[in-house]
Amino acid sequence: MNTDAAALVIAKSKAEIAILPGMANRHGLIAGATGTGKTVTLRTMAEQFSRIGVPVFMADVKGDLSGVPFPGGESVRVTERVRSLELEDFRFQGFPVMFWDVFGEQGHPVRTTISEMGPLLLGRILTLNEIQGGVLTLVFKVADDEGLLLLDLKDLRAMLQFVGEQAPQLQKQYGNISAASIGAIQRGLLHLEEQGGGIFFGEPALNLEDLLQTDADGRGVVNILAADRLLQSPKLYATFLLWMLSELFERLPETGDPEKPRLVFFFDEAHLLFNDSPKALVGKIEQVVRLIRSKGVGVYFITQNPLDLPETVLGQLGNRVQHALRAFTPRDQRAVKAAAETFRANPGLNVARVITELEVGEALVSVLDKKGAPTPVERAYICPPQSRLTPATTDERRRIIRESILYGHYEKNVDRESAYEILKERAGRQQKEVTEVLAQPQRPADGRTQAGNLIAAAAKSAAHAIGSQVGRQIIRGVLGSLFGGAKKR
Ligand SMILES: Nc1ncnc2c1ncn2[C@@H]1O[C@H](COP(=O)(O)OP(=O)(O)OP(=O)(O)O)[C@@H](O)[C@H]1O
Ligand SMILES: [Mg+2]
Repeated sequence: MNTDAAALVIAKSKAEIAILPGMANRHGLIAGATGTGKTVTLRTMAEQFSRIGVPVFMADVKGDLSGVPFPGGESVRVTERVRSLELEDFRFQGFPVMFWDVFGEQGHPVRTTISEMGPLLLGRILTLNEIQGGVLTLVFKVADDEGLLLLDLKDLRAMLQFVGEQAPQLQKQYGNISAASIGAIQRGLLHLEEQGGGIFFGEPALNLEDLLQTDADGRGVVNILAADRLLQSPKLYATFLLWMLSELFERLPETGDPEKPRLVFFFDEAHLLFNDSPKALVGKIEQVVRLIRSKGVGVYFITQNPLDLPETVLGQLGNRVQHALRAFTPRDQRAVKAAAETFRANPGLNVARVITELEVGEALVSVLDKKGAPTPVERAYICPPQSRLTPATTDERRRIIRESILYGHYEKNVDRESAYEILKERAGRQQKEVTEVLAQPQRPADGRTQAGNLIAAAAKSAAHAIGSQVGRQIIRGVLGSLFGGAKKR
């Protein structure tokens, strides 16, 4: 029996197995084939973190996590497990939950701005190649130099049009701007909008502090992002979560070796992060995962096979739960063997064989001990969750959203003056000036050329005025150190 109240008991073998709060920011892995118990394990972990006051964030990929606010007791499998494991402190209970939804339907809307997302991650969402990505970076640079805010998709669209039209002049300063690349980015944007991705960009942008809440009893808030619809655009889903990680990394101060994490971030369907990712991006992800630890954030990847993750990332995941894997084909068998080899061996256990024999809710578990070394892998039953497995009804969900302290803040989309409005206004003004010039009776023979010059001059002075007015540091960001996005203003 584990006597430390803070220890996060997640499984039971002969004895209880617990993640140590001080080691929880050394990241983790939950792996296993479909239906073997990964989501239930994630939930058990989340509840334990909440209990000791650690807020968590997780994406609800299948819509089966929304029962967390309500006490369990309805699942026969769970009650049986409670009895057979003889769990002493077990009590059915709900946990504080905040629902989030990019589409604003199943939770508070989650938004970010185009400039916070930055050209690298945006390029990934738009599936741009290297050259097109280069042009997108340049478009950000022009916006920065001109003091134009990029908040939503229409800002970016307006900016692209502007850069496309002014390409001959801009090229002198910024280098080659190919019309084909501008076109490719525009097509990418169109596609993103068709998928409903436009809704994600705008204000008020998510304030990460809002994810770090505890309730009146000191329990950590479980943030649940509705991800069923989001997952239909796998790149948007993966990049969005990656953006959150990088934001957490950028914004949170160093904590050294914390007593417990500041936040635990569960990354479900983690393989999507690495699927045909360019090497440079994988390198950055690896870097974020390595460095975010010192900010007190633990990242737990959930995926079918540990080999879905690059070795550099896998090597950093200290707390591991491996559910059953299937071994039907020789290829499966090789994957099982390789997965087995990622554990610290236990002389009493044939890991490769056991992996294929595990029941639902049973797993091979290894956690980090006080010194940070992985414990020998053990075969154990995962403790069942205390909250309800049955998802929230629409009414239950609505009630929780409405009763949340954040209700009303993110629900209202604000559209302040940014690139789109300014460029539109500028174009309107130029149009007016052109008309005036053309209407002048003493117009010289080359009036058209003069009008043309005037447009350029007007554009320049407008840009200058705006530039000095708004300040030039708008899109230059600290985040640039990793992903080239902007600092929050
Ligand atoms: N630790 C457990 N205690 C009791 N029952 C469990 C446990 N783990 C899993 N189960 C039962 O098994 C079912 C399937 O588990 P779960 O949804 O976690 O699988 P999964 O690995 O997430 O599957 P998928 O890959 O399809 O998402 C649960 O609904 C629950 O009934
Ligand atoms: Mg699942």
